[in-house]
Amino acid sequence: MDDLSALMLQIAYGADEALDDQPIDRLVLRAPRPQQSASLPETPAPRPAARAPEIPAQLRAQTLADQARTLEELRQAMESFDGCALSTTATQLVFADGNPDSGLMLIGEAPGAEEDRMGKPFVGPSGQFLDRMLASIGLDRTNFLITNIVPWRPPGNRNPTDSEILLCRPFLMRHIALVRPQRLVLLGGIAAQSLLGSKSGITRLRGRWATVDVPGLAAPIPALAMLHPAYLLRNPGAKREMWQDLVALRQALEQ
Ligand code: URA
Repeated sequence: MDDLSALMLQIAYGADEALDDQPIDRLVLRAPRPQQSASLPETPAPRPAARAPEIPAQLRAQTLADQARTLEELRQAMESFDGCALSTTATQLVFADGNPDSGLMLIGEAPGAEEDRMGKPFVGPSGQFLDRMLASIGLDRTNFLITNIVPWRPPGNRNPTDSEILLCRPFLMRHIALVRPQRLVLLGGIAAQSLLGSKSGITRLRGRWATVDVPGLAAPIPALAMLHPAYLLRNPGAKREMWQDLVALRQALEQ
């Protein structure tokens, strides 16, 4: 069995946490033999106390998310969730910013350093750039709600892994279901691929309206994928595409 299949099997068995940095082959390891005393009879080893079986983190995330009836309950449930290792390296949960009643929800990738410090999404350089681009079509944070696929900063600003995205998905889906936006904007490849269920790159996915099915909502939500503002900061030549997508968003909002 290759490494990936072995890992998938462990996840299917509910082993969702690494206990050590290095693997331990328990088929090779043997407990040290107790010293035999010549005179005393061997006493039976005490039985280990029975432990309640651990509920897999994915199931706990789903249960917590399903139980949340309001955005505040969801935020508290996410703060109480200790099943995602990212929450132990992040400073705090980054839940959302903006207006949940606006009908428009923007979803990015994961908090960066500034977001982690402030506890708000998109407040660092790429967030400020995004604000300026949205202002050019007349939108500010009273006109939309903004959040991320993953609510804790990955260490060193690395991309969130597939398993971290999957683990946080029940919270994101519940977040969308509670907000009930009329439209979604997916910022960057990770948000677009994860919510559109596609492996295509963002340059293929951007600029076209698609739909996202959200558990608990009767109708799928129209969603527009766009380039991530951090990508635009690195590739200013792509501003033309971004402008086209902003115009498409503005037109949809005017309908
Ligand atoms: N990039 C993101 O995707 N989200 C943030 O909150 C900040 C930067």
